[in-house]
Formats: sequence, structure tokens, C-alpha cells
Amino acid sequence: MSDTSTNPRRVPVGLGDRAYEVLIGPGLLARAGALLADVMPRRRTVVVTDATVAGLHGDTVLAAFAQAGVAARMIVLPPGEQTKSFEGLADLCDRLLAETLDRGDVITALGGGVIGDLTGFAAAIYKRGIDFVQLPTTLLAQVDSAVGGKTAIDTPRGKNLIGAFHQPRRVLADIDVLATLPVRELRAGYAEVLKYGLLGDRAFFEGLESRGPDVVAGDPAALTWAVEHAVRMKAEIVAEDEREAGRRALLNLGHTFGHALEAETGFGGDLLHGEGVGAGMALAFRYSADRGHCSGQDADRAVRAIAAAGLPTTLAEIPGAPFRVETLISHMRQDKKAEGGDITLILARAIGETWVEKAVAPGPLADFLAREGAI
Ligand code: NAD
Ligand code: GLY
Repeated sequence: MSDTSTNPRRVPVGLGDRAYEVLIGPGLLARAGALLADVMPRRRTVVVTDATVAGLHGDTVLAAFAQAGVAARMIVLPPGEQTKSFEGLADLCDRLLAETLDRGDVITALGGGVIGDLTGFAAAIYKRGIDFVQLPTTLLAQVDSAVGGKTAIDTPRGKNLIGAFHQPRRVLADIDVLATLPVRELRAGYAEVLKYGLLGDRAFFEGLESRGPDVVAGDPAALTWAVEHAVRMKAEIVAEDEREAGRRALLNLGHTFGHALEAETGFGGDLLHGEGVGAGMALAFRYSADRGHCSGQDADRAVRAIAAAGLPTTLAEIPGAPFRVETLISHMRQDKKAEGGDITLILARAIGETWVEKAVAPGPLADFLAREGAI
């Protein structure tokens, strides 16, 4: 057994009496019971997962709980974004009630961002709040959604519009589970890894320029390094600004453009969230250069790194292109960061230096989108 297998990396999320740790390394699901027993004093849990993850990793987790003397039952939901809905929430809450969980119990979320966001929100409202732990199984969930306490469901009016801040008690990011992840999902998660370098850490970005291909190829050492670095950055930002009053908004780099593209493609399998973020970050850097905030060299370098991971960087690569300028702008006005219909963007001065630009002037933005190929 390797050293990291017995000693996972530990990243603290410093939130006072709600502080918790993110454990990162291989083999963690197989030791989930032992690694979580201290936050499960009643020695029982319900594992919420989706059918794909249940088939691949469910038995490992149930065996690990049994080994540690934690009684665990499993609720299996359909995979896919549509599960993160009012209907999915009602179904999950009903099934949790049927398990007669009470406030002293702990729910386990085993899956990607869909399962983590839905289960976290159910935990936030179940009997006015119950503890939960996160066992993220996608790269995106390990570096972003499982850390920081944002939980939500979608409605027909948009994504993540109904939700709550509810921090997990612990997060186990098992690098081994990423071996079963389809490569397209791994690349989409990698967009969120690159995001950390681009938004605030040039040295990490430069590290990804050389180690990124290993990360995308699924090399466990490179993945452990990238996940730990990303989680440390996220933990630091969340500890400083849990409710997104300031710096946490930088984590939305590329998301306003990306959200518009996801809306155009129907928030489904045609464009994964991370793919939208990849294209959105490329657009954000090119727009920053276009407005004279950032050098063309840095914008080109950012775009090259995104493209090198096999992610889209232009509107023409997005299914359904060409898009109408007015429609894209209208989606951007509905983004959660918009204020009174004014568009907010995260813009760059350089790789690793970003800020929140409020009340973005729609005229120059429309001209830019037209130059990018929108009609
Ligand atoms: P997902 O949860 O839908 O997982 C993607 C697919 O991979 C699913 O089909 C799933 O069954 C499958 N899968 C998961 N783990 C697997 C594994 N180890 N092996 C094989 N298949 C596996 O998608 P996601 O990309 O993890 O998460 C996207 C969601 O996360 C969106 O709803 C987005 O809004 C949300 N999100 C939330 C935050 C936050 O801060 N809360 C941040 C970013 C994204
Ligand atoms: N994913 C953005 C955030 O957690 O703030």
C-alpha cells in the first residue's frame, strides 16, 4: 500500500464551528467507514447515489461502512441533470423519510455534482437540517461542487435557482474512482481545475501547462496534485467568503458566457457544464484582451491551455452554432450574478489576475460576440 493510500492529503476548510476536512488520495471509498465513523456517532447512514455510480462503486462503499460497523442503506436515483429537480427532490425526501432518518443521523452523497447538489439541498431542509458527507466521484465534483456548501436544484427557469448553503461534515475525494469516469467527463472537470490557475494562481496555471496532459490522461499522481491544489484554493476562498459577498464570485470565471451557451444547448449532454466553462473562460480572456484589460499574449496562452485539454474555445465549436447575439446577451442578463438585468462578468488583467466587472456595457459586448461569430 502506498504512503498516500494510508495517509490521504488533508485540506481544512476553516469555517469555525462548521469547519471540516477534505481528504484526497487513492483508495478512500474502500475505507469510507473508518474515515467517516467519527462524524457518524449513531453508526448509521443512508447513501444517496445514481444508478451508474451505484453499479461501479456502490458495493465498495457499503462494504466499507459494514467493515467499520456503520449500518448503511442505499437510495439509487436516475443519473443526469434532470434528477436535480423539484420532482427529484420530493422523491429523495420521501425516500429519506421512509428510512426514518432523524436529525442525529448523517446522509452520504456518493456521486458527481448532480447527486452532491441534490443530496446537500435535501440534507439542508430535511427535518430543518441534517448532517451530510460528500464522496465526490467526478473530477468536477472533487475540485468544485463537493467543497464549499453550495447546494441546489434546477427549475424550468434556470439552473441552481433554488438552494441553500449547507456545508458537509467531511469530503472524501478518492482519486481511484476517476478511473471509471468517461474521458469527456474528465476533460469537463479539468476545465474547473484550469479555472483556479486562470482566476488567481499563475504558477499553478504554468504547472498545468506541463502536467495537464497527465491529468487529462488520468495519471493518479498528477490527478492527486491537481485536485489537492484546486481544493486548497477553493477552501481558502470559501473560508474567506462563504456567502459570495466578494472574492468567491471569481470562481464564476467563464460561467456567464458558459451559462449562455448551456442555455442555448438545453443544459443537456450536447454541452457539458465544464465544456461550457472552458469555452466561457476562452471568451472571457479574449473579451478582456479586446477591451484592453489583458495582453493578447496572455489571452492566447489561456486559450491554448483550454484547447490542449480538448475543450471548446470558440462559439463555432458549440453544437447549434451560430447563435444570435441578442439571445446570448439575454441569457447573460438572466445569469445569477446579473444585477437588475445588468450583466456581471469575471474579467482578467492577466493569467492569475481577475476581478468582478459589474454593469458590463451591452454594446461593446454585442460587438465582441459578433466578431466571435454570433449573428
Ligand atoms: P454528474 O453528477 O451528472 O456526473 C456526470 C456523469 O458521470 C453522470 O452520468 C454520472 O452518473 C457519471 N459518473 C459520476 N461519477 C462517475 C464515475 N466515477 N465513473 C463513471 N461515471 C461516473 O455531473 P458533474 O459534472 O459531476 O456535476 C455537474 C453538476 O454540478 C451540475 O448540476 C452543476 O450545476 C453542479 N455544480 C455545482 C457546483 C457547486 O458549487 N455546488 C459547482 C459546479 C457545478
Ligand atoms: N462553484 C462556485 C462556487 O462554489 O462558488
